[in-house]
Amino acid sequence: MTANADNPVSFHSPPRVLCADGARSRIAPLCCSLGWRHALVVTDRWFVQHSPALAQLLAALHEAGIATTVFDGGEPDPSTTLVDQATAWVREQGAPPDHLIAWGGGSNIDLAKALSLTIPCTCPVADLVGHTHWPAAPLPLVAVPTTAGTGSEITPGAILVQPGSATKVALMANALRPAVAVIDPELTWSCPPRVTAEAGLDALTHAIESWLTADARDFDTEGDADPGYSGRNELTVMFARQATALGFQHLAAAFERPQDRAARNGMARASLYAAMSYATAGLNAVHGLAYALAGLTHASHGSTNAVLLPYVMDALVDVRRDELADIALLAGAAPGDADALARSAPVRMRDLVRRVGLADNLALCGIQAAQLPRLVADGLAVRRLAKAWPGRRADEAYERIVHNAFLGKLSGCEH
Ligand SMILES: NC(=O)c1ccc[n+]([C@@H]2O[C@H](COP(=O)([O-])OP(=O)(O)OC[C@H]3O[C@@H](n4cnc5c(N)ncnc54)[C@H](O)[C@@H]3O)[C@@H](O)[C@H]2O)c1
Repeated sequence: MTANADNPVSFHSPPRVLCADGARSRIAPLCCSLGWRHALVVTDRWFVQHSPALAQLLAALHEAGIATTVFDGGEPDPSTTLVDQATAWVREQGAPPDHLIAWGGGSNIDLAKALSLTIPCTCPVADLVGHTHWPAAPLPLVAVPTTAGTGSEITPGAILVQPGSATKVALMANALRPAVAVIDPELTWSCPPRVTAEAGLDALTHAIESWLTADARDFDTEGDADPGYSGRNELTVMFARQATALGFQHLAAAFERPQDRAARNGMARASLYAAMSYATAGLNAVHGLAYALAGLTHASHGSTNAVLLPYVMDALVDVRRDELADIALLAGAAPGDADALARSAPVRMRDLVRRVGLADNLALCGIQAAQLPRLVADGLAVRRLAKAWPGRRADEAYERIVHNAFLGKLSGCEH
C-alpha cells in the first residue's frame, strides 16, 4: 500500500509488550513494581502437571511477596458457562485478586479476560456480552501466550462459546486489552505439532486477512467514538507484511522441528506482529465463516481459519491484486506478472496448509453440500466481520468462497 493521506491512521498500542526467549522471568518483578499484591493465575491442568516454567513463576511471585490463587480449569474454546463457574469459584476462595495472569493458549487468555471483568462486575458474563460500558472496569491482566497464533494478548476481545448460539460470541472493548503481554517463545516448544500448525495458521490468517481488509476510511464504526477495530491503515499494514513474511519463513520448520529456536522465535514474532495489525484493522470473511464452521463441526479455531484462508484470498485477487502479488513474493515466488503472482498466492497458502497436515477443503472437514447455505448465512450473521469485506456484495462473495472451499477450487490452479 502506498502512503495515502486520505486513509486515516488510528492505532491501539498495547501498554507493555515483552518479547524474548526467557521473558517470563520478568513477570514477577514487573507485577511487584506495578504495586500488585494478589494474582489470580488462570491456566489449565496440562500446565499445572507438566510445566516447570509455571511452577517457577509461582515461586517467583511468592518470593516477590505476591499472593497467588491458581484456577487450573481452563478448557479449549471456553464457554460462557465455564466463565460463570470460574467466577463463582474465585469468589469462594475469599479475598479477591487485584490482577490476573493468563498462562496458556488463546483459550486460557480469553477465559482470563472474561474473568477480569466478571470478578469486579459480579454478574453473569452473558449480561456483559454486546456492551462496551460495564458496571466496573476490568482488573489488569498479564497475558502469557504458550502458543504462537491467537494474539489475544494484544486484542480487545474475548471469544466465548455460548451454548445454543450458532457462532461464538465476543466480549469486546478497548478496556479488555491486557495491561502486559509477555511473549516468551520458549513456552511454545512443548506445543504438539498439531497445536503448532493450527496456531501458526491462525497467525498467518490474522496477518493476511487484516492486510486485505477494508481501509479505515471505508470502515463503518457505527458512531463508536472508541472502536476496537477500525480498518487497515499504513501502520497496520507494516505489521501485517512483516508477520506474513515471518509466518511463511518459519511455520513449516516450527511444525517439523519443535525445538528449533529460530523457528519458534520467528513464529512468536509472526503472531505478535499479526496481532499488532488485526488488533486495530480487524478481520472479515475468514473469521466470520470460520466461526460458522466451528459452530457446525466444533473443529479448532486455527483449523477452521486454515481451510478457508486460501479461498478468501482467491476471492480478492481483483480488489487486492498488488497485496496478493506481494504475499506471493513473501511466500517464495519469483518476481513476475502481478496478475499471475496474485493468483498464485492462495495456491502457495494452501500448499503450506497441506504441508502442516491440516484439511484444505470443506469436504475434508466433514461438511456436506446441503450445509453450505447454512454456513453462508451464519457467517454473514457475524455482522461486525461481514461489514469489513473489502469487495462489493459480501453475500455473493461468501457464497462463492464457501462453494470453492467445498470443491477445493482456486483460480490459480487447474483441477
Ligand atoms: N481473543 C482473541 O483475540 C482471539 C483471537 C484468536 C483466537 N482466539 C481464541 O483462542 C482459542 C484458540 O487458542 P489456541 O490456538 O492458542 O489454542 P488453545 O488455547 O485452545 O490450546 C489448545 C490446546 O493446546 C494446549 N497447549 C497450549 N499451549 C501449549 C504448550 N505450550 N504445550 C503443550 N500444550 C499446549 C492447551 O492446553 C490446549 O489443550 C480459540 O478459543 C479462539 O476462539 C481468541
